[in-house]
Amino acid sequence: MIQYTENASLLSHNTFGMNVKARLLVEYTKEQDLDKIFADARVKDLPFLCIGQGSNLLFTSDFDGVILHGQIKGIRPQAQYEDVMLVEAGAGETFDDVCAWAVAHQLYGAENLSAIPGEVGAAAVQNIGAYGVEFKDLCVAVSAYDIENHRHVIIGADQCQYGYRTSIFKQPEMKQRFVITGALLQLRRASKHHQPEFNLEYGNMRTALAGKPLTLESVRNAVCDIRAAKLPDPKQLGNAGSFFKNPIISRKQYDALRRKWSSMPCYEVDTEFVKVPAGWLIEQAGLKGYQLGGAAVYEKQCLVLVNKQQASPADLVALCQHVVKTVSEKYGINIEPEVNII
Ligand code: EPU
Repeated sequence: MIQYTENASLLSHNTFGMNVKARLLVEYTKEQDLDKIFADARVKDLPFLCIGQGSNLLFTSDFDGVILHGQIKGIRPQAQYEDVMLVEAGAGETFDDVCAWAVAHQLYGAENLSAIPGEVGAAAVQNIGAYGVEFKDLCVAVSAYDIENHRHVIIGADQCQYGYRTSIFKQPEMKQRFVITGALLQLRRASKHHQPEFNLEYGNMRTALAGKPLTLESVRNAVCDIRAAKLPDPKQLGNAGSFFKNPIISRKQYDALRRKWSSMPCYEVDTEFVKVPAGWLIEQAGLKGYQLGGAAVYEKQCLVLVNKQQASPADLVALCQHVVKTVSEKYGINIEPEVNII
């Protein structure tokens, strides 16, 4: 079923709760719908934007184009090997439902990605990640509709140029060429010869699991609990998860900064670079809870900006700019939004 709505409100389509409109909202449920949609005179030649649950977007104004909201569902095993199960998930599946499904089927690999807001399609664009695991670690291939050539294609994960919260699908020309329809994921199975291992190296994962049996369920529950304690529920407080990326800086710059701020944490990237938690930089710059208009830096995790009191898009943009400027002046580090600002 395809549904076209002109001058549509996007209020319920973005977790920041921005009350903006789109010239045309198109909702669809099947891969095959995309041929019809892109042949439609109302859609042709207009810019378009694919959205899922709108959990990583900040609309700064009305969208003078087409918002495509795909709801392609389904989580289906495709092939089973001794140690691995290949699973196909529709782009419109909530990513956490895939994690829950994997845990319920005793499949390993997705448990650390539990409770991340958003859908499979967005996960494939954004290379979502948490607690030492990223979408790319599971992804075998992405299926997409190629608008230029009017055909459905499969793009191998090695072609997706996955990096820290980025992929080929974030490049402007690719955004207007491909609509992601699903992903093929590889999940690990326990076998006679092999017991898959958990990834518990990040932060307080081991502490959260201390004294508990190590199972897929307990790891998933620990991740959900850590996230619930730190990250605001968009249903109660509008937000889009981490607003900024953690900046990657040279070890030389980091060593110099450590002389001044001895407790500045970092994560290893490679021999030359480290990643510094932007949440720490923002908090130590005195911005915890800082409010500008209706927008604020979240008290429990400074990497998150929230819509505290009917924030306007301008409030959020002004707060973003203030945070970037303050961090730059204090540490000489340029932090960049992770959220897609439209
Ligand atoms: N920290 C502070 N103050 C803060 C926030 C963090 O001092 O306000 C410190 C923490 O104490 C810790 C470090 O910064 O030492 C890292 O914090 P945390 O473990 O919360 O993770 P993060 O680096 O802030 C990233 C991801 C999250 C993901 C977590 C866990 C990005 C942009 N964000 O946050 O992803 O859940 O790691 O893996 O990489 C998202 O992308 O939306 C998201 C929530």
